[in-house]
Parts: sequence; structure tokens; C-alpha cells
Amino acid sequence: MSADRRYDYARGAAADGDHAAAADLLEQTLEIAPGWAPAWFALGDAREALGEREAAAQAFAQALAHEPDDSQGARLRLARLGVEAMPAQPPQAYVRDLFDQYAARFETHLVKDLFYRAPAILRDCVLQQRGPDARFAHALDLGCGTGLMAREMAAQCARIDGCDLSPAMVAKACASGLYERVETVDLIDFLKSYEARSVDLVLAADVFVYCGDLNEIFAQVARIVMPGALFVFSLQRAEAGSYQLGEDLRYAHARSYVAALAATHGFALATCDDVSVRQDRGQPVPGLCVVLVAP
Ligand SMILES: C[S@@+](CC[C@H](N)C(=O)[O-])C[C@H]1O[C@@H](n2cnc3c(N)ncnc32)[C@H](O)[C@@H]1O
Repeated sequence: MSADRRYDYARGAAADGDHAAAADLLEQTLEIAPGWAPAWFALGDAREALGEREAAAQAFAQALAHEPDDSQGARLRLARLGVEAMPAQPPQAYVRDLFDQYAARFETHLVKDLFYRAPAILRDCVLQQRGPDARFAHALDLGCGTGLMAREMAAQCARIDGCDLSPAMVAKACASGLYERVETVDLIDFLKSYEARSVDLVLAADVFVYCGDLNEIFAQVARIVMPGALFVFSLQRAEAGSYQLGEDLRYAHARSYVAALAATHGFALATCDDVSVRQDRGQPVPGLCVVLVAP
């Protein structure tokens, strides 16, 4: 049997919950194709499911060694196992691939099945802060996804630009016709492409869960916003510390971390409310909705 066939059978066994059979087949696969990163990653998965943390860590380390771009997120898995330090950012290739694979069913799955409502919550926060007649000349939508945030804010904004790491998400955002400019780039590079004091609204709906350290993002937003501009975003909530990587491989941030960053970069903290923007296994995920005002 070829390596491909063994790998496919292993995935089937894992999907059926037979992780011992999956691990066995993957070890056979790797004897034939020792440099195959997806097989190492799947072996890490199987070993972790079997409670064999050390063997899982070894397999994830091999996956990373054979694919340094890390589109599978082996580094995050190693951090979750406590073997490596938490990375300040997830691998870009991992986020890109995750959302490229998710793009086609993003809206139905997230909105209908997981009751996702970050864009509507952020819009309500903006209108609470500025009143129902709020108008913005130039808004940025960081991690714009398919364009749900622009759909919420189109009536209030003369111009919205967006960016996203995932080409498949960007294709959908472009097709919405709601954006003047959409770039397939990391949001920090996108922010760097704007002149100082050139935008009056920056939005990020459920994006910073894929960004651990927010300091550089705050610095760039502080640079490009006009006086009185709003910086509005949702977070998954950590109860202590600064930020942490959760079991769900998303980052959560503490209220005190946001307040400290706001102060460092000269923003006034107008809103930092407890909200839940989506569910996970039927339970609301604890989050924060934040509105910062530029001086
Ligand atoms: C959960 S989706 C939310 C999409 C959109 N904001 C919405 O509310 O529908 C997160 C999006 O952020 C994008 N993303 C994550 N990290 C990013 C980064 N560093 N730069 C640009 N986009 C990023 C992902 O590709 C994904 O499309």
C-alpha cells in the first residue's frame, strides 16, 4: 500500500475515533515518506488524542521541521502542550489556510450555527458612542473576511477599505462591492500603508483572536487615525494576565491589558463591555467589545 493510501486510511480511522489505528497507519506512512509534514502533524493529533503528550510533541516538532511555514499550526500545538513558549502571533500560513478552507461555508456556519454577531455588536457600539447619525469619511476593516462588517457599516461610511490574510476571504469581500480597496496582506502591513492622520474609523471584528501581542497594532492605528477617530474591536476575554492562547487555539486578552495599551498609545477607553460574539459547543464564548477614542 502506498504512503498516500495509508495516510487516507489513517485520517479515516481518526475521524472514526480510532486514534490507535490512525497512529499505527501514520507511522507506516512515515516509514515510506519520512519528510511528509501533514503525516507528522496527523500523528501528533493521534498521539495527543491517545494522551501520549511527549510522543505528540515529538510528532508536531517533526511537522514543523519539515514545513517551517507551519500552515498546520504545529507551533500552536506545541505551545498548547506546554513544550514551546506561546508565540506572540500565530503563523500567518496557518491563519491563511484555515480561512481559505473555511471561506465557502464561513457565513452559514459561523452566523447560523455559532450565532456569530460581532459585526452587529461593533456597529451598535459605534452608534452608541457617536449617535444614530454617525458618519465616517474613511474606515478600515482589519481582517475583513467575507465583508460582514462592511455590510453593517456601509450606510455610515463614505469609504471602507479592508484587508485579510486569506485570498478566498478577500475574493468574497471584493465580490460584495462594499469596499473601495481590499488587500491580501497582514493587517500590520496594511496599517503601515496609510498616511498619518488619514482615517477616522478602524474596525476589527473577531480578528484579534488570531493576534496575540496587540502592541504594534495599537501603535500603527494610533499613527494613522485623525483626532477623535474611533478604534473599535471585539476580543475573546482572558480573566487575568495580558493575553493567552486558549484550548481552542485562539488568543484571549485581559481587560487590564487593553486598558494599559490604550493608555500607552494615547487612546481614551470609552467602552470595554462584556459581550459574547459567538457560541462554542452551545455555550456563549466570553468576550469584550472595546471602543477607543483617539485624542
Ligand atoms: C473570524 S474571521 C472574522 C471576519 C470578519 N471580520 C467578520 O466579522 O466577519 C477572522 C478573519 O481575520 C483574518 N485575519 C486573522 N489574522 C489576520 C492578520 N494578521 N491580518 C489580516 N487578516 C487576518 C482571517 O483570515 C479571517 O478572515
